[in-house]
Amino acid sequence: MLVATGIAWAEPTEQQARDISNAEALLRLPDFDLAARPDLQSSLSRYLTKYVGTTRYFQLIRQFKLRERSDELLNLALSKPRSTAGSWAAETLNGFGHRSRLKEAVSDKDPQRGAAAVILLGETGDERTPDFLTRTILNTELATMVRVASAAALAKQREGDEDLLRLVTEKMLPADLNFAVGNLLHASDNSVVRAAASEYLPLPPVVGGTPLPPVSVLAAQSGNRDRGQKIFQIKGTCAACHTVAGEGKAVGPDLTEIGSKLSKEALYVSILDPNAGISHNYENYEILTQSGRIETGLLLSRTGDQIDIINAEGVVRSFQASDIDSIRQLTISLMPAGLQQTLTKEELVDLVEYLTSLKTKQ
Ligand code: HEC
Repeated sequence: MLVATGIAWAEPTEQQARDISNAEALLRLPDFDLAARPDLQSSLSRYLTKYVGTTRYFQLIRQFKLRERSDELLNLALSKPRSTAGSWAAETLNGFGHRSRLKEAVSDKDPQRGAAAVILLGETGDERTPDFLTRTILNTELATMVRVASAAALAKQREGDEDLLRLVTEKMLPADLNFAVGNLLHASDNSVVRAAASEYLPLPPVVGGTPLPPVSVLAAQSGNRDRGQKIFQIKGTCAACHTVAGEGKAVGPDLTEIGSKLSKEALYVSILDPNAGISHNYENYEILTQSGRIETGLLLSRTGDQIDIINAEGVVRSFQASDIDSIRQLTISLMPAGLQQTLTKEELVDLVEYLTSLKTKQ
């Protein structure tokens, strides 16, 4: 039944209507020689461009082996790795023998795309995938975010948790992955792996040194939003760096709508392991001056002769380019790790309940 919703749908033009019926007809003709009909080729091409990512789109591309759409498929896969369209795009690329495109994307200069490639490679893997993921985990040239995704993907392979544990016991695991891998191992269904995780990678402690349960367990709990708001403002010191609805200091990102952006699990990771996924535009820099002074902070502005940074106390410092000996990007966040150590587990759960409630207003 058609319901009047008050939304004005654009009527398809005549050409669009023809493209749609051509596409429907072609779907029923698996052996059709498309090369012999340039007119249908361009009709199909217009149709596919308009309906990127739909079921029909994939059916047609696979049926007519349209390898020239590989760039589009790659972009689709990397921009939405956790969607149906994203994983179909990756499978279609694999079917075309273009798995190497996904492998190359692991070292894309945008770590979000790199992590997406890893997720897709892990999901569509074969018996060589664990080795590939292990090499990615160990490749410290890659962003932490990409290697964290590789560890998560490896944990999902057969006996992947044991492979991860071996990296830990043989002291090969890069230290910035300790938290992420610890969480994966603590959540393993193999009790031997869990016991070894408690020994080698205890989860970060809360007040009094009690270790926390894994993030997956924390995320299943609910807390008290109002108590969480007070913890945010005072005990947790979060408002010293973050604004919510205009209140607080704007050193780090504004969190007014963070509950719409990050899942509960991701919120826990942001607090417990700030170094794992440093937000874009919040990279932390270290400046060494000619006189030997060291300052760290976020880059506010950089012109030919002056650099301004804001440090963890929210203080802005300006440097003349001529006074600077060197400037380098740090792999650690300006947000300090271990903030939960002044909180109890219940207070942490309340804090995350509060953050979860900060949603986009409809
Ligand atoms: C010294 C300053 C500082 C303090 C204190 C601080 N943060 Fe942050 N926070 C940052 C910076 C800078 C970033 C961005 C860099 C990054 O992602 O690591 C950030 C990132 C985040 C993010 C991810 C935001 C996003 O858009 O992805 C969350 C969530 C967060 N902080 C929550 C908290 C909470 C909760 C507290 C209190 C327990 C806290 N922060 C305390 C500076 C701080």
